Amino acid sequence: MGVEICVEGLTKSFGHQVIWQDVSLTLPAGEVSVMLGPSGTGKSVFLKTLVGLLKPERGSITIQGRDITRLREHDLYEVRKLFGVLFQDGALFGSMNLYDNIAFPLREHTRKSESDIRRIVLEKMDMVGLIGAEGKLPGEISGGMRKRAGLARALVLDPEIILFDEPDSGLDPVRVAYLNQLIVDLNAQIDATFLIVTHDIASARQVPDNIGLLFRRELVMFGPREELLTSGEPVVRQFLNGRMQGPIGMAEEKDAAQVEQELAALVDRAPVEELTPRLLPGPGIPRPPRWEAIARREAALRANA
Ligand SMILES: Nc1ncnc2c1ncn2[C@@H]1O[C@H](COP(=O)(O)OP(=O)(O)OP(=O)(O)O)[C@@H](O)[C@H]1O
Ligand SMILES: [Mg+2]
Repeated sequence: MGVEICVEGLTKSFGHQVIWQDVSLTLPAGEVSVMLGPSGTGKSVFLKTLVGLLKPERGSITIQGRDITRLREHDLYEVRKLFGVLFQDGALFGSMNLYDNIAFPLREHTRKSESDIRRIVLEKMDMVGLIGAEGKLPGEISGGMRKRAGLARALVLDPEIILFDEPDSGLDPVRVAYLNQLIVDLNAQIDATFLIVTHDIASARQVPDNIGLLFRRELVMFGPREELLTSGEPVVRQFLNGRMQGPIGMAEEKDAAQVEQELAALVDRAPVEELTPRLLPGPGIPRPPRWEAIARREAALRANA
């Protein structure tokens, strides 16, 4: 069931610009994790590093006992089959219609017959509400439809690891609600390990088992959703509440004295709020018990109490 990803001491730079350093976290097998962080903190770079598209300067990424930062291109190609990835820009081929775009990984990585491919492609298109749009080119449809086509394409190979970069950006609120339910249902059904980058706090509160936050070139926190949602850490609280007051500024960093003043003024008006309930799988979809997740969550809640 799913595959664990263990990241240790990971550092990524472009030239002299350090994007993030010493990032360590474990994405537990079969669980849903969300990565948050202000724009430009390197969330997309993190996903691309996990699939081996970008090479980190330091650290390791262990999947099924192998450090993928050290694999040769041929072995990496094999490991990539475990992944289903939705890139932030959708990354559809502009000259191919939606059907061919979604069929592409199956034609590239499997020897399935065209009739099998057709069944799988239509099933995934139905799942994301795109039936009828098979013949459309990416340039002829809305941004939200492109996003959903990217989602369908990420799912056709029945991946063990699913990485979604802002699957909900460009979707209307009702579609975001459907998408969140789809993610929770999928996770219960296929047991893949999910990492989702999002700016949507409501989704981050309801969907994942775990939440991480990148800020100022570091992973500020990564842990059970309950731990982050009840955390008193100023960066975490500011981000999860979408407030201007706190360490995160428009240009990312703020003057320490100003932060202190803002936080002092906030104290009375911002009690620790109640936990948003987790979104459950739809009727008829049993969620397999995740004993490890439950144990970690309870430890986190005890530590906070
Ligand atoms: N291939 C690249 N070469 C050089 N710099 C890059 C490259 N890709 C990303 N960067 C830089 O890395 C930083 C982080 O970019 P990234 O796209 O990961 O941010 P993000 O957290 O996903 O932001 P957003 O929330 O806006 O999508 C940015 O400063 C960006 O300019
Ligand atoms: Mg991004």
